[in-house]
Amino acid sequence: PKDSALRGKTVVVTAGPTREKIDGVRFLSNYSSGKMGFAIAADAARRGAVVRLVTGPVNLPTPPGVERLDVESAEQMLAAARPLFDGCDLFIGAAAVADYRPEAPVEGKIKKNAAEMELHLVRNPDILATFATGRKPGQLAVGFALETAGGVEYARKKLVDKQLDLVAFNIYDGRTSGFEVDTNALTLLGRDGSVTELPLLPKEEAAGKLLDAIEPLLRR
Ligand code: PMT
Repeated sequence: PKDSALRGKTVVVTAGPTREKIDGVRFLSNYSSGKMGFAIAADAARRGAVVRLVTGPVNLPTPPGVERLDVESAEQMLAAARPLFDGCDLFIGAAAVADYRPEAPVEGKIKKNAAEMELHLVRNPDILATFATGRKPGQLAVGFALETAGGVEYARKKLVDKQLDLVAFNIYDGRTSGFEVDTNALTLLGRDGSVTELPLLPKEEAAGKLLDAIEPLLRR
């Protein structure tokens, strides 16, 4: 669309899961496929934005016109995204970043000698919050919030705690929405207190509705 507020804007999108190394052959991760983030990147590019997509390991083709950076861990995702913070108009965190990582990944393969083993985890950096709290006036920060049940209150807390402009709340039910599947039901929470409940849609269409909600914020 010619009149899109995204035309000529620079957008950074994170997508996919992260992998946190336990040893040379094992990792902690989650079920994110990257579909939601890739759909957002594709649609933003179609609307004329300059799109940089920082993604964890996924099995998806790069959308046309999108610049893609592949990473594995949360720390690598932050390292790849941080240099892009400065020049962007909009940051959208669609990645399912692991909140914790093994403190000391072992080189090579851990041998199974003991009957039990303990894994000590430490907190990962929060990429979206790092952007949002350090940004300049005019830069927009949009996040997702994933819960397994209910929880619009948690999404609102994320909006406030991470100082976001908009949060897309979704539920992982293993069947229709959240990770892996081709559809998603988003509830958009605005900083102004607005709540927009979208129906279950293909992720491509959900991405479009999200960008439709962001565009007026970019015009301000
Ligand atoms: O990839 P798909 O299979 O298509 O699934 C889509 C999705 C479910 C992954 C996506 O719609 C989604 O909800 N992404 C965010 C998942 C998540 O980890 O949510 P959260 O509530 O834990 O995180 C809140 C926000 O902070 C997210 O924008 C997240 O990207 C960001 N975050 C979280 C932790 C962290 N260390 N760094 C971050 O940037």
